[in-house]
Amino acid sequence: MSDTSTVNTENTFKDQEQKMAISARNINVVYATPTGDIPAVRNVDIDLPKGSITGIIGESGSGKSTLIMAIMNAVTKPGKITSGSVLLNGENDMLKLSSEKQRKIRGKEIGFVFQAAQNSLNPLRRIGQQILDLGRAHEVNDLRKLINYAKKLLIRLGLDADRVLASYQHELSGGMRQRVGIMFSLVLNANIVFLDESTTALDMLSQASVLEIIRELQREKNLTIAFVSHDIGVIADLSERIEIFYAGEIVEEGKTSEVLACPKHPYTKGLIKAIPKISGDIDAAEPLKGSSPDYRTFKQKGCLFYDRCPIRTDSCRDSRPELNITNRDHKVACFRVGANDRD
Ligand SMILES: Nc1ncnc2c1ncn2[C@@H]1O[C@H](COP(=O)(O)OP(=O)(O)O)[C@@H](O)[C@H]1O
Ligand SMILES: [Mg+2]
Repeated sequence: MSDTSTVNTENTFKDQEQKMAISARNINVVYATPTGDIPAVRNVDIDLPKGSITGIIGESGSGKSTLIMAIMNAVTKPGKITSGSVLLNGENDMLKLSSEKQRKIRGKEIGFVFQAAQNSLNPLRRIGQQILDLGRAHEVNDLRKLINYAKKLLIRLGLDADRVLASYQHELSGGMRQRVGIMFSLVLNANIVFLDESTTALDMLSQASVLEIIRELQREKNLTIAFVSHDIGVIADLSERIEIFYAGEIVEEGKTSEVLACPKHPYTKGLIKAIPKISGDIDAAEPLKGSSPDYRTFKQKGCLFYDRCPIRTDSCRDSRPELNITNRDHKVACFRVGANDRD
């Protein structure tokens, strides 16, 4: 009897893992600096369910880009991943594969646009040449087909494809480069796509149309997308799930609709209040108080949000709240979330 139940539990666990395109556990990343290590990502567990969009939100400096790089095992010096595992489709651990296997996965299975899209383009080669380079690096046989697909994507993203392919990056505007970055993340037909602040250089209207195109492509190809942004307003319409990130830790997570309708963490509440589009009242919109996390915040002992928290108590300064379930898969890390908020 007990044997059967063990097997069942194991199977359920395996099933859940297989529904995850990415299942990252206990990710820790530090940056070595002259004044000591900055723990930029701490004990983070994150799942990206297959065929869905997850929004990763937090102010600048909170560790979002570092987390994404860690998931791809692409953290560079002075950063170092000190622990963790990242299962891809319930199988390979990205943090343990050989660097050649990782290189193949990055691009072909995981497409990505790093935050500074202009920095990941080669200034000395035309965009078309760079697509060919990418194709060759990933042993694509039909390079003509690859270029045609790149053109299709560029046109869909609202660009003059022939002109873009013949251009160097300095001939493109910031917004055009971001769209080119999105094309690069999709052109090898990766199933998992990381987009890090990929629409921030676009004006509001272009941003809305690019987000709509990302949504369409996600549905057509059943992509798994992690969309990183400092703007919770962008995620509201785009993502099924949301992860709120503060000073290297997830402080709240859940279904986007639930988190936005019923935020629990004072930080999430502050982010929402600052955006009239979500709070629904322009007069009531107020910017989040205090300054965004810096290297000192990461080293605090107690709750990392302590300095800025409107509902803090003395004990919040001494110990750190864990991410706990409040309601099904809605989780929050806050000592002050009342007993009524928990099931
Ligand atoms: N190259 C670096 N050297 C030292 N510290 C860094 C470096 N890059 C990032 N950090 C630290 O890690 C924190 C998180 O950075 P980052 O992941 O870029 O945040 P985000 O993407 O949320 O803006 C920063 O606040 C900073 O303290
Ligand atoms: Mg960033």
